Amino acid sequence: MTMIVVTGTQWGDEGKGKIVDLLTENVDVVCRYQGGNNAGHTIIVNGIKYDLHSIPSGILRNNVVSFIGNGVVLDPVQLIDEMNKLTGKNIEISPERLMISPKTAIILEYHKVIDKCREEAKKDSKIGTTGRGIGPAYEDKISRIGIRAGDMADESVLYRKVKAALKEKNSLLQHLYGQEPFCADKLTKKYAALGAELKPYILDSTFSFGDYVKGKRVLMEGAQGALLDIDHGTYPFVTSSNTVSGYFPVGSGISPFRGISNIGLVKSYTTRVGEGPFPTEDKGDDGERLRENGGEFGTTTGRPRRCGWIDMVALKYIFKMSGFTSIALTKLDVLNSFEKIKIATSYMSGGKVIDGFPCIADDLNKVSPQYFEMDGWMSDISKIRSYEDLPKEAKLYISYIEKELKTPVSIISIGPGREETIVRKEFL
Ligand code: GDP
Ligand code: IMO
Ligand code: MG
Repeated sequence: MTMIVVTGTQWGDEGKGKIVDLLTENVDVVCRYQGGNNAGHTIIVNGIKYDLHSIPSGILRNNVVSFIGNGVVLDPVQLIDEMNKLTGKNIEISPERLMISPKTAIILEYHKVIDKCREEAKKDSKIGTTGRGIGPAYEDKISRIGIRAGDMADESVLYRKVKAALKEKNSLLQHLYGQEPFCADKLTKKYAALGAELKPYILDSTFSFGDYVKGKRVLMEGAQGALLDIDHGTYPFVTSSNTVSGYFPVGSGISPFRGISNIGLVKSYTTRVGEGPFPTEDKGDDGERLRENGGEFGTTTGRPRRCGWIDMVALKYIFKMSGFTSIALTKLDVLNSFEKIKIATSYMSGGKVIDGFPCIADDLNKVSPQYFEMDGWMSDISKIRSYEDLPKEAKLYISYIEKELKTPVSIISIGPGREETIVRKEFL
């Protein structure tokens, strides 16, 4: 088995969808192993745009099986909508091409309502969640009152579990948030019908992903980015899953002890959607220009993404715990028009340079980044197809990143299209 793991190293939206699609040319199985439809992965192939949220980005290749792993939280209503949209764009969706682990946690209606009510109630301290019910669904999984994909096949099992969960949920919804309670009968009927529709795609409970992938080429597709990790990210302004690359064995049910190509996605600058600390955020003209040039508006919620320069302090923190074997550097073309490019190299806090990345939000809010400036290349690089042909300033930027992160850049993305990529095969 060959294994490639692709994860974002910042606050998401590094261009994972594009890179995963690119790499699936030589892959048999693509697995999503954490997160849910809070993710939005955009892929452009032959000028057609595909927005994926729950379905792995392998789905655009005919010969690839897309697997939704146990670590994912899955909204069946949204999944079916996404399947229909892809079918409408002539992408074949069949049980041979899309498989769902029976252990995958299901997002139900009440998770979405709780997510929204909780955010509303937070007033000034909102996290800025996507409102997709991600946190509440993961909470139920950990509290052992969750409903899993395999439960949806049997209406009586589903009813028992929904009824048990609603005991708590309805009390919370009515008494704390002033919402209407959910009816166990109605909810069971709705999700049993969705379960029936998804039944061909949900594997039976004896399925072993480890056995299935023996002898196959597998790609693990991360969602979000490492700085949004529930343990290692900028808590509490994070998502509710482990987004660091080391989570893939748990979220898929596969052994971690095999040779893997562990690719860290680094956007050539930094973005963040939602609230939370962001030391290199630029609220002035540069940030605005990055947003415009990079089309930085959320794939899932349409919100404008906050933008700023690349942050080597944050990246070094994530790289130290990730063991990446190479980097895919994305959206380099977005810097085309900048005369000067800034790189945050250290942080100051309390009048002195601090060592390391303070991963606690309150501490991170107090730092001021120190920058190093490099010359830009001031030309369009999106038509270039070989590393040697890149302007010398772009090569300097790339080698600076390689040197600082002690990891080679194997892929350089210079536009959203599949072909707008330079692959340095020697590093893959
Ligand atoms: P993901 O969540 O990491 O998959 O990233 P998103 O798809 O949410 O956001 C990345 C956006 O940038 C999408 O609109 C992509 O089409 C686009 N994109 C990806 N790579 C590049 C690139 O190298 N250059 C430019 N200009 N756009 C890119
Ligand atoms: P992809 O896979 C960017 C952010 C939300 C919010 C926080 C918590 O496209 O990179 P949640 O709904 O997960 O409870 O929200 O996490 N967030 C993302 N930001 N890209 C994503 O996914 C994200 N998924 C969640 O904006 O700040
Ligand atoms: Mg995204």
